[in-house]
Amino acid sequence: MDNRPIGIFDSGLGGLTVVKEIANQLPNEEIIYFGDTARFPYGPRSSVEIRGFVFEIIDFLLLHDVKFIVIACNSASAAALEVVQQYYNVPIIGVIEPGARAAVQATRSRRVGVIGTQATISSGSYIGAIKVVDAGVQVHSLACPDLADFVERNEITGPRVERAIQWYLDPLIRAGIDSLILGCTHYPLLSETISKVAGDGVKLISSAKETARELKEFLIRKDNLRQEKVPPISRFVSSGDEDVFRELGARFLGREIESVDRISFPLQERVAGIEKG
Ligand code: DGL
Repeated sequence: MDNRPIGIFDSGLGGLTVVKEIANQLPNEEIIYFGDTARFPYGPRSSVEIRGFVFEIIDFLLLHDVKFIVIACNSASAAALEVVQQYYNVPIIGVIEPGARAAVQATRSRRVGVIGTQATISSGSYIGAIKVVDAGVQVHSLACPDLADFVERNEITGPRVERAIQWYLDPLIRAGIDSLILGCTHYPLLSETISKVAGDGVKLISSAKETARELKEFLIRKDNLRQEKVPPISRFVSSGDEDVFRELGARFLGREIESVDRISFPLQERVAGIEKG
């Protein structure tokens, strides 16, 4: 038993799709979520810069005595997971391996598509993670730089977003994929339109669901589930505007967000301040 909270973070609000799945599968767990909305998006940034952000955020979450950390951002998982797993003692998982494993399990044609940000796709992380599970699977990956922006604007259906998705998916569908990894935490909100374009023959793999499943397995095997009878209280923290977070975040989370705390940059100074009391 471990009643401490789970720390979850993303470059912005997309990671709330992961929080939603975790809350579904682990309703008794307390969560502290950090959205780095002031520095969103991570997708066009270099892996060195993203790694620096990830260290700052994990230091901040550890001040809240989290028992487990989920990097609910594909770009950050691709740039930093391996490094931070080696650096910190707290268990940390990302969203790439769970999605990759699920895609290998799902595919019949052994041709898997991956869509994500520039940072995620150019890292080759999904290809690596898929090949670890099945080296014979063909991976067709593609960066879709503006898809997350459609979601940010709440343009998740309609002709413009459909045309963009059509344009991106066309080469993947022609390559014969039967499973498509939504390799960006924003994309689950586009599932309906992506499914419409990709057709019934392509199964969509959401990293959010798979990551929540993996986290649950970890907590059960480590005997780390929260056992309190009182319902959990989750906290939301943002580096940017609290009101925008509350309003837009509700779409990703699928429920109202009552309050959001704001933390200012640089986080390192803030962390030092908290430690000094
Ligand atoms: N959360 C990011 C990811 O999953 C998408 C948005 C961004 O570019 O930061 O890759």
